[in-house]
Amino acid sequence: MISKPLDQAGLVQAALSARDKAYAPYSGFRVGAALLTAGGKVYTGCNIENSSYGLTCCAERVALFKAVSEGERDFRAVAVASDGGDYCVPCGACLQVLAEFGDGILVYMCSNAGKYRVRAVADLLPDRFSLRRDSANVEVNRN
Ligand code: THU
Repeated sequence: MISKPLDQAGLVQAALSARDKAYAPYSGFRVGAALLTAGGKVYTGCNIENSSYGLTCCAERVALFKAVSEGERDFRAVAVASDGGDYCVPCGACLQVLAEFGDGILVYMCSNAGKYRVRAVADLLPDRFSLRRDSANVEVNRN
């Protein structure tokens, strides 16, 4: 956990650095994430693969689970960086897990060069799974 205040560029840099910790012997694709709490702390994560491939955990969820297990619930932003050449967009599963803690969390999708694009979780995953039986989705599907 990083407790010194980080600006946007610092959060992006933390995600790029977290990527170095990735355990990705099967895909060779390293991902790093840095999650900013409302209180200004930063929890980092990397992807952790397994020989039973489906047990792999993405970097974003590692960061989020670390933070929640330390008592954090209120998040402002997450930066994600990968080995890929393009801006790193979180997978749908990670967006669903992030959305549990706030549709408004800002996602900084980083390139290798440290450039980034930013979108809110709600923009990347506009219709997510919900246990509500009277959700707007149900209304839409009835029409
Ligand atoms: N991965 C992440 O860490 N985050 C994502 O949002 C999508 C994919 C990881 C999982 C796996 O170790 C590697 O990238 C290739 O899929």
